[in-house]
Amino acid sequence: MANPSPVELPIRSIAVPPHPQWPELSDTETAALKSRIRQLLKDRNAVLVAHYYTDPELQSLAEETGGTVADSLEMARFGTETKAETLVVCGVRFMGETAKILNPEKRVLMPDLRATCSLDEGCPTDEFTAFCDAHPDHTVVVYANTSAAVKARADWMVTSSIALPVVEHLAARGEKILWAPDKHLGHYVERVTGAEMLLWNGACVVHEEFKSFALERVRRLHPDAAVLVHPEAPDDVVDQADVVGSTTQLIRAVVELPNREFIVATDAGIFWKMRQIAPDKILIPAPTAGEGATCESCAHCPWMAMNALQNLEQVLLTGDQEIHVEPAIRARAVVSIQRMLDFARERGIRRLAST
Ligand code: 13P
Ligand code: SF4
Repeated sequence: MANPSPVELPIRSIAVPPHPQWPELSDTETAALKSRIRQLLKDRNAVLVAHYYTDPELQSLAEETGGTVADSLEMARFGTETKAETLVVCGVRFMGETAKILNPEKRVLMPDLRATCSLDEGCPTDEFTAFCDAHPDHTVVVYANTSAAVKARADWMVTSSIALPVVEHLAARGEKILWAPDKHLGHYVERVTGAEMLLWNGACVVHEEFKSFALERVRRLHPDAAVLVHPEAPDDVVDQADVVGSTTQLIRAVVELPNREFIVATDAGIFWKMRQIAPDKILIPAPTAGEGATCESCAHCPWMAMNALQNLEQVLLTGDQEIHVEPAIRARAVVSIQRMLDFARERGIRRLAST
């Protein structure tokens, strides 16, 4: 399958930070730290809203303290359903902003506000606005991995678990779509739905590292394995998948497919939940472009890795690293997000049953 051909927009080079090196903690230190955090969460009437790519210690703590571990769609929904006054979003900045936009009365904290996303970074508001203005006859659909200001310019926000049905719905109404920022996800949606789409030229630096030639080799070694691919991966990797889907959809596939082995092309943080929910299955990481020093992300998002027990405790103690969204931007961004949530409710798109 040919590579996507997004409109001729510049490809932005994104500065990818090195993975943070957190000091090793002994089991006793980890247990003591977790117990202090549990107490702080109670004292502050706070819950953890964690993504599947974060440190397993954070994921397990989120679950055992009444928070959630989820994909972007469910993280957004959970914040609106909990009674807690403070949401501590362990993930990347757009997830914290979405939580704040949907819950302006709640305090939204993150362990590190510098945790961004290459898709968000690669879609500056002014250039994106100019792109939209140049195509006024298109419905603007943006991926969740964007800034609040970009969402404010959009008609719809979608996450990877709901992009296909939303675009199918719009295409059935005869709408032409302007899609941003992930060209790979956009091209996948375009191919499956047949919708007419103009694509922004952005990509995820983590998923772009999965390479088709290397995946072919691993598949030959494990011919009975099912291949699970997140749609932020390039076309020629997606083309080899048995299942293409959001993090939740890939986790569900490990439980539901009869295969014993799975080759998984997404961030390695997802293995914690997959092992918890399907301990008898064998999980094989899909190969990336390089290894060790030659590998930029090594299948682990450097921004997700900025979330750790240590800075989580700090943010609960100090209350800094708080998300704020300008009211005028919030008022417009909430429309595109709420449209997606209403659509998900109408279609009965729910979370993983067992989490
Ligand atoms: P999901 O919504 O599928 O969890 O994806 C979020 C993300 O950033 C993937 O890289
Ligand atoms: Fe963004 Fe990719 Fe990290 Fe997801 S994995 S947050 S898309 S950089």
